[in-house]
Amino acid sequence: MTPPKHFLSLADIQASELRSILDEAHRMKKNRIGLRKGELDKDAPLKGETIALIFEKSSTRTRFSFDMAIKQLGGSSITANSNEMQLGRGETIEDTAKVLSGYLDAIMLRANNHETIISLAANADVPVINGLTNFNHPCQIMADLLTLEEHTSLNAGQLKNMTLTWVGDGNNVANSFINAAVKFKYKLRLSSPNGYEVKKSILDAALSQGADIEVITNPLQACKDTDVVIADTFVSMGDKNSEKRLKDLSEYQVNDTLMNAAAKNSIFLHCLPAHRGEEVTAEVIDGPKSVVMREAENRLHAQKSILKWCLNS
Ligand code: CP
Ligand code: NVA
Repeated sequence: MTPPKHFLSLADIQASELRSILDEAHRMKKNRIGLRKGELDKDAPLKGETIALIFEKSSTRTRFSFDMAIKQLGGSSITANSNEMQLGRGETIEDTAKVLSGYLDAIMLRANNHETIISLAANADVPVINGLTNFNHPCQIMADLLTLEEHTSLNAGQLKNMTLTWVGDGNNVANSFINAAVKFKYKLRLSSPNGYEVKKSILDAALSQGADIEVITNPLQACKDTDVVIADTFVSMGDKNSEKRLKDLSEYQVNDTLMNAAAKNSIFLHCLPAHRGEEVTAEVIDGPKSVVMREAENRLHAQKSILKWCLNS
């Protein structure tokens, strides 16, 4: 039996495969123009397939975009909060993986700890898709890159010609941008205060594979002439000491000063949910450079392609 194709980290998947997933996402998105949201894609490639969507923590975008992605592809989904499952009462992830593999064609999990999704994948006979862990968020970054490539007024939509600047906490989303820098060859700048930098091991692994990543602690300097400014919450799900985090990260708020330092055509990304007045001002996130709602919509299109890739359909 061929091993299942998991989607756990962008670091594990070849650049050519990731490229083909993005290409297919662009193609499928174009093909749906004019269809209503609940209408099936003409080829319904997931017909007969059922996918579990399991959440250990809250979600709006991931939950609804995966559910609609599966519907549009002609498949069906079963969504559960892990607390409603025996997982929440201590059943092991290993047993859960084996049991669910007998019923389902794939499993999407949003997990508190990255180790949980690794154990799920190691024990499942079906593809496992990472819907965010404390360590990374690969589906989000595929949607973000799709959004940047659609933005043809920005360096003709060519990722390799773009400079992306991450401002704020060196968190799970930042880690996936680092992994993707190896594969898609954009320039990445990371700007975080002391104590909130990305893990050195992740950065070093990317640099050793030739990624063009610069650490620039000063956010104004980091945003100078950049094409894309990216923010995320200062307090991720599961983070403690929120008061201290908000204080320590306050100088890293994306505001008009930072956006004005960026390139003339620059755009603003945020995976959402956003906290106006904390990591970003309302003027920026609701302003003309923000593409966050298109970015959120693209979760649907990127994930349809990820699902097709995982299921070879
Ligand atoms: N961006 C994102 O993953 O959003 P949700 O937490 O709402 O799924
Ligand atoms: N870094 C955020 C992303 C939410 C989609 C978190 O983990 O809460």
